[in-house]
Amino acid sequence: MLKDSIQNLLGQVREMNAANAEELEALRIKYLSKKGEITALFNEFREVPADQKREIGQMLNQLRQQAETRINELKEQFEAKKAEAEKLDLTRTPDPIALGTRHPLSLVREEIEDIFSRIGFTIAQGPEVEDDKHVYGMLNFAPEHPARDMQDTFFIEKEIGVQKPTDVLLRSHTSSVQTRVMTSQKPPIRVLCPGRVYRNEAISARAHCFFHQVEGLYIDKNVSFADLREALLYFSKEMFGPETKIRLRPSYFPFTEPSAEMDISCNICGGTGCSFCKGTGWVEILGCGMVDPNVLEACGIDSKEYSGYAFGMGVERITNLKYRVKDLRLFSENDVRFLRQFESC
Ligand code: DAH
Repeated sequence: MLKDSIQNLLGQVREMNAANAEELEALRIKYLSKKGEITALFNEFREVPADQKREIGQMLNQLRQQAETRINELKEQFEAKKAEAEKLDLTRTPDPIALGTRHPLSLVREEIEDIFSRIGFTIAQGPEVEDDKHVYGMLNFAPEHPARDMQDTFFIEKEIGVQKPTDVLLRSHTSSVQTRVMTSQKPPIRVLCPGRVYRNEAISARAHCFFHQVEGLYIDKNVSFADLREALLYFSKEMFGPETKIRLRPSYFPFTEPSAEMDISCNICGGTGCSFCKGTGWVEILGCGMVDPNVLEACGIDSKEYSGYAFGMGVERITNLKYRVKDLRLFSENDVRFLRQFESC
């Protein structure tokens, strides 16, 4: 009877297997704990007749030994597996990592900032929601200047549904930051003002209701037009290559006198004339001029003591010249097929 039980358990012990450490512990308890099946057989051993004790005792010891050996064997296997798992470097980031890309407008804006910071310009910022005074009034715009017109400027209604023009508006150019800086700082002033601007335009490939500008302003004693020209030539060569030439054409802006528009030699054909520059060899990139004394005075700066220059350029325009992005809408559609093309920039 006892012999049969021993044989039966021996069979079970030989087949014993466990999928994990918990299952193994359950097996140990089942066979070898105080209330385990093998331990129970040892208890029965007391009743075995003396003449069989030797044989059955040996069988029982063998059974217990085999059970212990098998359990230890399995335990070692699990421990080895665990050690192997711990060898994995879990701090390693998974592969492959989908990296984001810089937006082309950010790339170009930062490049402009970098170039001017090398000649002493610092960054200044102003609000996008502005008032008429800072965007137009102090910049010498006549009260009836067409730029203030509803066609161009987004006015903010103070009361919902009241459509008459108010004083609060979305800035239509970053020249407004000039007035903010000049009224809050004393010369010498040398700032670059990057930012978003808004205009009430129908969205097309060539126009958008918002875009980006970088404004430059330098105010000090004895600042001349030659200083402006030098700074812009330096910028153009850094941005578009050392062979780049510039050309200043007389123009008009209310806040500068004299005013000019600046062209660079076409960076596609090198100035010989192509379809991009419409055969002229030149492309326009910015407006500039000497800060009008009226503007200095409106901002509390003595125009007899100080003079200065200003310039303003469109970041989209520069990006178009650098990366040939012709359709303005691409910049704000967030199409990853477009954005991924700037991965290596
Ligand atoms: N504010 C002008 C615009 O939005 C650009 C500009 C022209 C800025 C001449 C200037 C400047 O500072 O001197 O078209």
